[in-house]
Amino acid sequence: MAQRIGALILAAGKGTRMHSDTPKVLQRLLNDPMLRYVVDALRPLFGDEVWAVVGYQAERVRKAFADGTVRFVEQREQLGTGHALTEALPALEAAGCERILVLNGDSPLVSSALLESFLLQAEGADLAFASLRLAEPAAYGRVVRKDGRVQSIVEAKDFDPAVHGSVTGEVNAGVYCLRLDLAKKLTPALSRANRSGEYYITDLVGLALTEGYEARGLDCGNDPSLFGINSPLELVQAEAFLREKILRGLLESGVIIHAPETVRVGPRVRIESGAELTGPCEIYGASRVAQGACIESHCVLLDSNVDADTVVRSFCHLEGARVGKNCTVGPFARLRPGAVMEESAHMGNFVELKQACLRKGAKANHLAYIGDADVGERANIGAGTITCNYDGERKHTTRIGAGAFIGSNTALVAPVNVGCGALVGAGSVITQDVPDGEMAIARGRQRNMPRRVIKS
Ligand code: UD1
Ligand code: CA
Repeated sequence: MAQRIGALILAAGKGTRMHSDTPKVLQRLLNDPMLRYVVDALRPLFGDEVWAVVGYQAERVRKAFADGTVRFVEQREQLGTGHALTEALPALEAAGCERILVLNGDSPLVSSALLESFLLQAEGADLAFASLRLAEPAAYGRVVRKDGRVQSIVEAKDFDPAVHGSVTGEVNAGVYCLRLDLAKKLTPALSRANRSGEYYITDLVGLALTEGYEARGLDCGNDPSLFGINSPLELVQAEAFLREKILRGLLESGVIIHAPETVRVGPRVRIESGAELTGPCEIYGASRVAQGACIESHCVLLDSNVDADTVVRSFCHLEGARVGKNCTVGPFARLRPGAVMEESAHMGNFVELKQACLRKGAKANHLAYIGDADVGERANIGAGTITCNYDGERKHTTRIGAGAFIGSNTALVAPVNVGCGALVGAGSVITQDVPDGEMAIARGRQRNMPRRVIKS
């Protein structure tokens, strides 16, 4: 019977070479944190059996993954990758794991397919690791072989050609598969007697071989999906690689993308064939753009849904918004979390919608703030309308009935209701409900009088 296997992501390091206070695994590529990519690659293979060792700003990492897709183990002091593994072993053992796939949290390009094939090749070995062939081994750990057989992995800082032989370009990718009982047995023998003064997970290879176990180095060629990220330069290079891959996939699936080199789309975004993007634009998170919809230039969409045949004109910003079919949005519109536009609604320039709904066919075409509001079907919101939703302590709701007409420059002081088919005169400050079908004017009455002549 196959052994029960769990996955462990090493994610406790600060990432000193990033020169940032943000934990490295929370650095973003196409707006998703690095660790999200690694978790998403593991979940199809491991389901809920995915752990991450966290340490540096552990709380922040846990919070970013509060959705339960990964379980956490804490490494209080970051004493190296070997120490991180040691600290995680009790949790994995308690969960009944007999084998572990261990991988670095700073390899966001890794794919499920690659891990699956690595696991197949690792079957039967006491310990296996993935190796890469690079023209320049840079800071990677070097794989040392003798007569083709793996001897050890030697970290770049500790590598000495006089002792370890000439550089071959075969390096350690940071993906390992090993038996849990073996890890338990060998980790106490790890030592900090090296240039970094850290416990290296990589030393397990030499230790296992010394003890007579089988350790396999599985050659993955120069597969870029295994590249680790240690610096801002490597981060943007990986992001560029990912961006191109996503864009190519979208173009091949029938999305029309103008100036694709200026378009950034996140890995979880769904864009249906027949949709059109006019670069530059950014579409991130769990956004969806349906067939026939068009996103014009300079738009940013985050966790937003745009239904079929809707046009989002240039310079719009949508976050947590739902836009129905056949709507027009912008140019220069802002939809904040909870913004909803039903079918055929219109929202024009400099209109902000927050936690508010423009129902079917409703229009707010110029200069308005609509927050905590429900705008009925076909209602018309005049230029300069403001829902005054905040009294300094709490937010209140504005309800506008179907077919109502709100004149320009109206302040609707919430909580307040404007009835169906009602009309509010321009410049009003509405503090009381307006019944269905009535007209309200709430402003100083105009007085005309003779002009005083000023003698010069
Ligand atoms: C590591 C490998 C190296 C390999 C390379 C591949 C070691 C000693 N070296 O080097 O052989 O070629 O990855 O990318 O493992 N971490 C912890 N706790 C710690 C230290 C690190 O969880 O105490 C985590 C980090 O958050 C990171 C991962 O382990 O995600 C790897 O650490 P990093 O410092 O980036 O190792 P490399 O120097 O890249
Ligand atoms: Ca690294």
